[in-house]
Amino acid sequence: MTFIRALEFFSGIGGLHFGFNASGANGQVLESFDMNQQANDTYKLSFGKSPVSRGIDRLMVKDIEKYNANCWLMSPPCQPYTRGGKLLDDQDNRAKPLLHLLDQLEKLKTPPQYLFLENVKNFETSRSRHRLVTLLNKMGYVFRECLLAPYNFGVPNDRLRYFLMARLRSSFGTPTTATSTTHDGTVLRPEKFDPETEIIYSSWPLPAFVEDPRKSLQQHTFNIPELQKFMDENEKDGKDYLLSRQLILERPNFRFDILQPTSTRSACFTKAYGSHHVAGGGSLLQTQKMDQQEYDFGNSESIADLGIRFLTPTEVARIHVFPLDEKHDSPNPFESTTCTDNVESGSSAHSSGDSLTTVRPFNPRLTQGREGPFLRFPDKLKALQRYKLLGNSLNVWVVAELLRGVLFAEHPGAPRPEYQPADGDSESNAERPAMESSNNAEGPEGGKHDITAPEDGLSEQTQGDLQEDESSRETKRARVE
Ligand SMILES: C[S@@+](CC[C@H](N)C(=O)[O-])C[C@H]1O[C@@H](n2cnc3c(N)ncnc32)[C@H](O)[C@@H]1O
Repeated sequence: MTFIRALEFFSGIGGLHFGFNASGANGQVLESFDMNQQANDTYKLSFGKSPVSRGIDRLMVKDIEKYNANCWLMSPPCQPYTRGGKLLDDQDNRAKPLLHLLDQLEKLKTPPQYLFLENVKNFETSRSRHRLVTLLNKMGYVFRECLLAPYNFGVPNDRLRYFLMARLRSSFGTPTTATSTTHDGTVLRPEKFDPETEIIYSSWPLPAFVEDPRKSLQQHTFNIPELQKFMDENEKDGKDYLLSRQLILERPNFRFDILQPTSTRSACFTKAYGSHHVAGGGSLLQTQKMDQQEYDFGNSESIADLGIRFLTPTEVARIHVFPLDEKHDSPNPFESTTCTDNVESGSSAHSSGDSLTTVRPFNPRLTQGREGPFLRFPDKLKALQRYKLLGNSLNVWVVAELLRGVLFAEHPGAPRPEYQPADGDSESNAERPAMESSNNAEGPEGGKHDITAPEDGLSEQTQGDLQEDESSRETKRARVE
């Protein structure tokens, strides 16, 4: 398999890097780029290396070519494509770094063979996406696009996101013409390209790049684990994360999204989660009167008696499937989380010999190397800042599966392009820097939930963040349950 040399743009707290590791890819993340100081401090603590903090919109071709990378991982800002961000699309300044990267991509002498992009729902109808896929098509990439949420992969969380996986046609060893057929007759992509009618897949697994017309995709159903498997034993009562009685009483008729530990769903945790001003942006947990499962939101006294709390940052990080430095003396609670198989599940990271994407039953322990890297927040970051970074981030398991099952999947009949080390470059034998362990023993929790802490800009985007995921929540919930 090709040795993957990846660049991680808009790295945040490293969700793409963790996903890359968990995909089992043969390779390494060479460099990451972000300009958020708190995210970069967290990234440094987790991976032992600081991202480049120079603005991505100031990177030039020479700055990128020096890495000789063959893979780009990108999760650009989502505000240009959300109602809260006014849907300004390519006219929004926050879209500039992505559009700038596309300009640079076109100028590269050796464009990356592999490209991965994550963004919010709505991106798929944006002018930015139109520009992206039109450019990719022109440059000879084949690609798959999808709108998927963690629950599609067996994780009890709704976080519907757009993903694009693109591969240079030449990496399959086929001609760079509009239609390519491999020697065994499988079709690499449809003859005609129209960005308006390209399929955006909405179920998992999706067809791999090389479609074998003799095979058809089968549905796959997961048994989704209960939330209690993600719960923080140290926060059983969650005293530090309880919503105050006063806050609940001040919000008659506010429909809190209340979950019980036995729930097999949760709403998207946005970067506004944990804010006591909005009491929203993600699901809340009931800790008292557990036999009460119907809620009268008009009677806020009855809601205030339920001991409602926020999930802790550790719990949110677990639901986002970040590897954490935790002791696993107990049996793996996810081992029984197997799927209802009506499709053969591929359990190996490099399952080849099948042109369709393969499915792994969800098991977060597969993302965790014994030695790390683990997600580690600096002690100085308060709970609200951690929620914000997590809310900006992504689901590591989803990224891992899309990379493993689609982007890096091997294809029958495809010659295996070999990585050619540059002079003096012994990369193929190198340890991934990601495997360096940090000697910081602090868990991700560190600080306590400080409800008097400044909100660090939460309020500006809060309404938009809430709206962003509100619309899809009800339908998704129905599908999870
Ligand atoms: C959606 S978040 C990506 C989060 C990331 N995938 C993670 O796992 O945390 C977008 C990131 O882009 C960064 N960003 C926005 N504009 C940037 C720019 N011009 N240059 C570098 N980073 C930028 C933000 O700081 C933010 O961390």
